[in-house]
Amino acid sequence: MASIEVRHAAGGDLRAITKLWQRNIKTINTAGDIARLYHYFGRYFLIAVDRDNGAAVGFVAGAAKDGHAHISGIAVERKYRRQGIGSSLMKYLHGVFQSDGFTRITLEVRKSNRAAIRFYESLGFKPSSVIWGYYADGEDAIVYEKEI
Ligand SMILES: CC(C)(COP(=O)(O)OP(=O)(O)OC[C@H]1O[C@@H](n2cnc3c(N)ncnc32)[C@H](O)[C@@H]1OP(=O)(O)O)[C@@H](O)C(=O)NCCC(=O)NCCS
Repeated sequence: MASIEVRHAAGGDLRAITKLWQRNIKTINTAGDIARLYHYFGRYFLIAVDRDNGAAVGFVAGAAKDGHAHISGIAVERKYRRQGIGSSLMKYLHGVFQSDGFTRITLEVRKSNRAAIRFYESLGFKPSSVIWGYYADGEDAIVYEKEI
């Protein structure tokens, strides 16, 4: 099991986060889109680093949306999955959101993304609605929510 540090991301981590995002998430988000999110919501960007080799192995990108805390993206490199890293990122971010006074977290997930759905449900998120054709390729999104 890898020894992992979870910390706030800095501007110098943006390249690594962009690579993790585009490699692991089915998305049309460009590097510019991700940089813009970081510009507005950098406080909610966290990164997981392997202490042994310094590699960035996961991230979560939070935001504020419609008055709620929101998860814009989360990913863990394939070979590091199922070691609790995604959960650690989310728990750390929950704390940051709470300290900023948020009481609800929302997110969208592709209907077909069974692993992510299981992951979010394991953290106590509940489905609240469906947005038909939400993604650029026409796939529906399930909206998940959690009170914190
Ligand atoms: C979703 C993701 C971030 C989870 O990260 P992770 O570090 O593997 O998650 P954890 O190890 O903390 O998993 C916690 C729990 O979630 C559930 N879970 C996670 N991955 C799962 C899978 N592939 N199948 C079933 N359940 C899963 C399990 O209950 C797991 O606990 P367990 O391992 O003790 O059974 C990771 O699978 C990933 O990067 N996926 C690709 C990117 C993506 O789809 N992101 C979400 C859309 S934005």
